[in-house]
Amino acid sequence: MPSPGVLVLNGPNLNLLGQREPDVYGAGTLADLEADLRRRFPDLALRFEQHNDEGGLIGALHAANTVETAGVVLNAAGYTHTSVVLRDAIAAIRTPVVEVHLSNVAARESFRHHSLISAVCAGTITGFGPEGYRFAVQHFAGKG
Ligand code: DQA
Repeated sequence: MPSPGVLVLNGPNLNLLGQREPDVYGAGTLADLEADLRRRFPDLALRFEQHNDEGGLIGALHAANTVETAGVVLNAAGYTHTSVVLRDAIAAIRTPVVEVHLSNVAARESFRHHSLISAVCAGTITGFGPEGYRFAVQHFAGKG
């Protein structure tokens, strides 16, 4: 059986992890996070993308709408709370998407309490830092 493909898709400003509000998001970089996942899931066909714009994220979701892709791990960052088009893109594809946030968004400013994408995602993991990505990838492991 071929190994399942999993896309780990990160949204705006997550390219700045490590420098960006480290008290909230931690000291690790996006490269650290990706290397950790590759090390922990050597048998998975992991792909990583990061986009600072909605169009890039939507294009990546459309491209992940294939039988070879078991799932998408998505940290939509600030677009989580604002983007109808991202929600529509998730709803438009058959590939399941797990929503991940590094910080516990429920414990932060009220504008972060509402997610426009949660209802069209398979589930949400929030507040566990990079470990949350591991939980989400683990969910898709073995589903290829
Ligand atoms: C975030 C939480 C969002 O509210 C914020 O806009 C981000 C990162 C997180 O991973 O905790 O950019 O998605």
